[in-house]
Amino acid sequence: MARAKIALIGGGQIGGVLAQLAALRELGDVVLFDIVEGLPQGKTLDISEASPVDGFDVKCEGANDYSDIQGANIVIVTAGLPRKPGMSRDDLIGVNSRIMTQVAEGIKVNAPDAFVIVISNPLDAMVTLCQKITGFPKNRVMGMAGVLDSARFATFIAWELGVSVKDVSAMVLGGHGDTMVPIVRYANVNGVPVMELLERKYNDVAKAREIMDAMVKRTQGAGGEVVKLLGNGSAFYSPASSALAMAEAILRDQKRLLPVCALLEGEFGVDGYYVGVPCVLGADGIEKIIEFSLDETEQAMFDASVAAVKELVDSMA
Ligand code: APR
Repeated sequence: MARAKIALIGGGQIGGVLAQLAALRELGDVVLFDIVEGLPQGKTLDISEASPVDGFDVKCEGANDYSDIQGANIVIVTAGLPRKPGMSRDDLIGVNSRIMTQVAEGIKVNAPDAFVIVISNPLDAMVTLCQKITGFPKNRVMGMAGVLDSARFATFIAWELGVSVKDVSAMVLGGHGDTMVPIVRYANVNGVPVMELLERKYNDVAKAREIMDAMVKRTQGAGGEVVKLLGNGSAFYSPASSALAMAEAILRDQKRLLPVCALLEGEFGVDGYYVGVPCVLGADGIEKIIEFSLDETEQAMFDASVAAVKELVDSMA
């Protein structure tokens, strides 16, 4: 059977890590596309030359022409500028929507049957634009944010409790901005609620709440924390890993339940906007959106997050 083909649009920081991880995991042949000549060719040559050492048997090639993405099963988009210190993701909307317009046209013409995972920021707006321009059905166009935001939340919980990240389950929903919604109530370590573990650790309910609030805040600002430390550019290892988990779920029909930026048509009371919600990802892309009841606090946070997404998306119209 032919190998899957993965097209990566944008050969910068995230694109390079995506190409290397996709090759290492033998998810499929990789085409790394960028407008800068030489950059994707150089990165993919470098990655390919590691293949005898790491032992992967996939092709990994660079491209500057959209015709090279023909036949792609999955396209992951990272084209666009990253933030600089002090910038919010929303500050990128002008320049990145011009880039996304070109990219989405290229995908529409050259990879009309592909699943598309958008990473470029501001995520909720960029994925909306990508779906509008490609006209692809909603199960095939999605954004990567929730997997990363949830991973960040889970990392902080694991550190705080001194347990393996493998045993932490935590989900972040809503938009990919400062208003994102970590679902504290269901955060758990192998089924044991994190709040209970914190209360036992500190033997103090108020202190446990304070620690959790700090982890929620750190999660919401986690992208900015990395931007500030790097001084130039934004996070790239963890966004690449997160998008590849989504791509793998689709390519291997894993039916994983992951938070995905999906087009809602009534689910969670939202109609016509892309928002991060739990979805089942499998061979048909977004196969199902999983609804559950939010409590009063979560609902208020979710509503505020959706309002922020609406304001941003409507500003593009
Ligand atoms: N078509 C294709 N690629 C483009 C285009 C375009 N029209 N315009 C720019 N690019 C390429 C750049 O040449 C660059 O190589 O996109 C790449 C972006 O790479 P980086 O600047 O390294 O940014 P990165 O850290 O990978 O982040 C990309 O993802 O998380 C978001 O906020 C982040 O919007 C940013 C995007």
